[in-house]
Amino acid sequence: MSSSNHSRFQIKPGGVITGRITVPGDKSISHRALMLGAIAEGETTIKGFLQGEDTLATAKVFQQMGVAIENNEDVVKVKGVGLRGLNAHDGALDFGNSGTSVRLMTGLLSAQSFNSELIGDESLMTRPMLRVIEPLRTMNAEIACTDNGTLPIKISGGVALQCIDYELPVASAQLKSCLLLAGLYAEGTTSIVENTLTRDHTERMLGVFSHPTTRNGNTISIKKADKLMATEVIVPADFSSAAFFIVAASIVPGSDVILENVGVNPTRNSMLKIMELMGADIELHNAREQSGEPVADIHIKSSDLQGIDIPEELVAVAIDEFPAILIAAACAKGTTRLSGAAELRVKESDRIQSMLDGFIATGIQAEATEDGMILEGDDFKGGVVDSHGDHRIAMAFAVAGMVSKESILINDVENVATSFPGFVELANKAGMNISYE
Ligand code: S3P
Repeated sequence: MSSSNHSRFQIKPGGVITGRITVPGDKSISHRALMLGAIAEGETTIKGFLQGEDTLATAKVFQQMGVAIENNEDVVKVKGVGLRGLNAHDGALDFGNSGTSVRLMTGLLSAQSFNSELIGDESLMTRPMLRVIEPLRTMNAEIACTDNGTLPIKISGGVALQCIDYELPVASAQLKSCLLLAGLYAEGTTSIVENTLTRDHTERMLGVFSHPTTRNGNTISIKKADKLMATEVIVPADFSSAAFFIVAASIVPGSDVILENVGVNPTRNSMLKIMELMGADIELHNAREQSGEPVADIHIKSSDLQGIDIPEELVAVAIDEFPAILIAAACAKGTTRLSGAAELRVKESDRIQSMLDGFIATGIQAEATEDGMILEGDDFKGGVVDSHGDHRIAMAFAVAGMVSKESILINDVENVATSFPGFVELANKAGMNISYE
């Protein structure tokens, strides 16, 4: 949540989104492919890996723990060391801005024979970690953190984890995945109840690495593992990165674009339903499965959007897309109401506040609530937006710049590289007038 002014985007009004574009690889899937590849037997090949700062932070941490990773941009090779083959790193493991890395790795590292210390950047050091620490402690893990429940986390290794039956108190795939990774090592069968559906990439990928979980209604179970088997993982384009172009093409008149090879896992894609309820023109083509994940090409044409009351049951499965969705809502006719989205307050920034600040700065009438927002569709007037060091806030307001009366300047955009390296180049290619200032 740094507010220092590292570099900024300038977006000039105009442009049309057209052509066929491919956004970078899925962040969630890239993290998981590295993690499971590192503790599998044999060499895992990852194609389409996201070369973003977050996933590279995960790769670096595994290298520091003795895993050989060959990164040739398009193809990443991970020489698995087996479930018990990681080594202690002499020093703290730095996860940068990445909540997914640190939360999943807290589960994995709780089961190792050595001690670990986990840290991150200014934003990550303020994010809630008790959600993973508390259930891991009931599994027998020895974990310390600050009195506020934040990093640094200190894990004492060498304990035998025990399985648990646990109902997730928050809709969090990071928490679920953390416990599944710990469950690989825990005596017995770990069972997790999720009353709200969250992304299931870990479950799918465990199957691809030959250690399937089972699902019975809302309960996901994992048995202690003997081993995971290395495999090939083909990572689809990231739906959450595609979201910015889905919104841009929907709101900029005359747009017509195809986003290629995008992951459309049903536990990730409710933004499509929300956009369709608003009147967006979106079609999926060439639906297929790749490494256990549904993939399709997404065809979007511009359309007149209507404000809606966003159904709460669609919120968790669209959680990362709200910065983009709220820009669409600001361009829609009438009022949009979002509720049931309190988790937005504990993302890379407080995304309800960051979006509100951005709307106020660019001339959109909006009101924040504890767990959402109410806003009126209108014209963006232009202005200076602070991204609060949050990649998705920066990219969302870049999209708004295309339909703004005057230019939009966005401060503190360095963290766009955490999830979307090459955003400026790809956005220009697609038709946005964006430059660094
Ligand atoms: C993620 C889960 C989500 C999401 C994050 C990535 C994952 O977080 O916001 O960007 O890869 O498991 P929560 O599980 O905290 O909702």
